[in-house]
Amino acid sequence: MKLKVLPGKPLQGMCRVPGDKSISHRAALVAAIAEGVTVIRNYQKGADCLSTLRCLRSLGVGIEEADGEIQINGKGLHGFQEPDNVLDAGNSGTTMRLLLGILVAQRFFSVITGDRSLRRRPMGRVVRPLQEMGAEIWGRQGGTKAPLAIKGVPFLKPISYQMPVASAQVKSALLLAGLYAEGTTTVIQPAPTRDHTERMLRSFGVQVDVQGLAVSVRGDGKLSGGEVAVPGDISSAAFLMVAASILPESKVLIKDVGVNPTRTGIIEVLREMGAEVVITNERMWGDEPVADIQISSSALRGVEVKGDRIPRLIDEIPVLAVAAVNAEGTTEIRDAGELRVKETDRLRALATELRKMGASVRELPDGLVIEGGKPLQGAVTHSWGDHRMAMALTVAGLAASGPTVVEGAECIDVSFPGFSDTLRSLGAVVDVLE
Ligand code: S3P
Repeated sequence: MKLKVLPGKPLQGMCRVPGDKSISHRAALVAAIAEGVTVIRNYQKGADCLSTLRCLRSLGVGIEEADGEIQINGKGLHGFQEPDNVLDAGNSGTTMRLLLGILVAQRFFSVITGDRSLRRRPMGRVVRPLQEMGAEIWGRQGGTKAPLAIKGVPFLKPISYQMPVASAQVKSALLLAGLYAEGTTTVIQPAPTRDHTERMLRSFGVQVDVQGLAVSVRGDGKLSGGEVAVPGDISSAAFLMVAASILPESKVLIKDVGVNPTRTGIIEVLREMGAEVVITNERMWGDEPVADIQISSSALRGVEVKGDRIPRLIDEIPVLAVAAVNAEGTTEIRDAGELRVKETDRLRALATELRKMGASVRELPDGLVIEGGKPLQGAVTHSWGDHRMAMALTVAGLAASGPTVVEGAECIDVSFPGFSDTLRSLGAVVDVLE
């Protein structure tokens, strides 16, 4: 599927974005290993979160869907059934890595795989520490690539693990595995990463201790189901925020967006660039903060983004690059080498595709240098099969002169079903071709 984007219209009005992808995965996984029924409101229905539900169903978990809510009948920590086929995580790294932390302690054999992109992504970062806990996992390339085969073991050993990369997925897999270990499992992060697993586990009654960058759980607990309301995904809102900032005369109000401080790096950086962002109506949905975000067009300037801030906006860098192209001056993004092992190599993809539109983008081993302020021209661009690339290029197209085509745009459904409808509802001209 291709999108054709015509520039020239401001974005105006009010909208919501789909539920947070990270929180949706965690709500479903934690509910599945809890006792009793959990009702999840605003669960995200993108392909990734549906992959999590599909895997859980293959493991014998009862899941019912009705009127925007899903109900999960928890099986308890050890209640899954052996799947009679290979589990398919699709494009979803979160599904594969987090589920691994649970599968290693089930009393059966399972195999998990994913699509071509996911089979290329690094799994050693989660397999190795799980093996230190006693897990039995095999995979391609010395256990570092999917498909992965898991022989569940009855007991795991608690470990204290210093993570070499700042990854919320690795942290979460180890915390979930820690629920099955005899004693306290501690994960020490090199920098703060999203803490949705910690919050979700607490809301299911697990004691999670946080001391600076170290997070610990004990393996003697029981989880009890309840209700979860999933906030809107700030990573999806980011595309609308950047679009509203760079399109003259725009003003958009995005309601009910998650504003967990481990995710709000994009708001801080956009404000530093000169964006007008107003946050109102802050409140809590369960253990997660939510707010309404209003954003209006303004002149942006280049900025430097690096260090510990990177994990707090890692998924927003594609659209931040589009903001940078439309800002006066130079933007330098560093310490973001992780982008090379996302759904695609996002540094290479951004440099290649934004150059097609006339942008000046230099690739660094761990980042990008963008000389902003040159008007973009419409072009035929490609998503590289990556949802966030497709949406970032759509936003770039809205600010270009002349039409832009985004090829391979079907992957947008991975995280933001209804993206082009939402843009249209705010006044943008975006057509679906084929
Ligand atoms: C996620 C963590 C991040 C992020 C991904 C979702 C999560 O990945 O990029 O989109 O839900 O935990 P890493 O853990 O690989 O940094």
